Amino acid sequence: DRAGLADLVESMLRTVPDFPEPGVQFRDIMPLLADGDAFARVVTALAGHPHGPVDLVAGMEARGFLLAAPVAVALGAGVVPVRKAGKLPGLVASQSYALEYGSASVEIQPSTVPAGARVLVIDDVLATGGTAAATVELLESCGATVVGLSFLVELGALDGRALLPGRDVDVLLTLP
Ligand code: PRP
Repeated sequence: DRAGLADLVESMLRTVPDFPEPGVQFRDIMPLLADGDAFARVVTALAGHPHGPVDLVAGMEARGFLLAAPVAVALGAGVVPVRKAGKLPGLVASQSYALEYGSASVEIQPSTVPAGARVLVIDDVLATGGTAAATVELLESCGATVVGLSFLVELGALDGRALLPGRDVDVLLTLP
């Protein structure tokens, strides 16, 4: 059940203080991914949320890739990597977003996202929501419909959901 799943995720997360910089508590999902049973349960849960029919699963670089691909296979959908700037060849669509200092951007290959495609967005962590909101804008600028977003972990204090108004957001574990 969902409560058991949240407990499982919490018990298998590793919190690393002062990474990648002082003052940041990094939530490391690698121990969970390295456990076959836990990984399978998480993928099944992410694939099981009723967002409706899905044509494509979009995962954000880099840890989102590890979750989006098996969820896509479970749903019989394709997978689209949402990459950091400059990594994808050929024609790309790009969306920038604000960081605390400066900005970043995410990119996809629009040729892989047909107009009208129903897309599920998957990532490991919802923090400030900047990455997720930019991903939604990027996909919808290509004519796709984002049917929902699913995350392993939400960092509640950062209120990333505020950047995703009206969106169907599913998280397996919310941390304060
Ligand atoms: C992390 C995480 C999300 C994003 C969330 O990725 O995997 O993609 O940050 O942050 P936000 O909600 O504040 O935008 P990171 O930038 O560390 O990339 P990586 O997975 O390539 O290390």
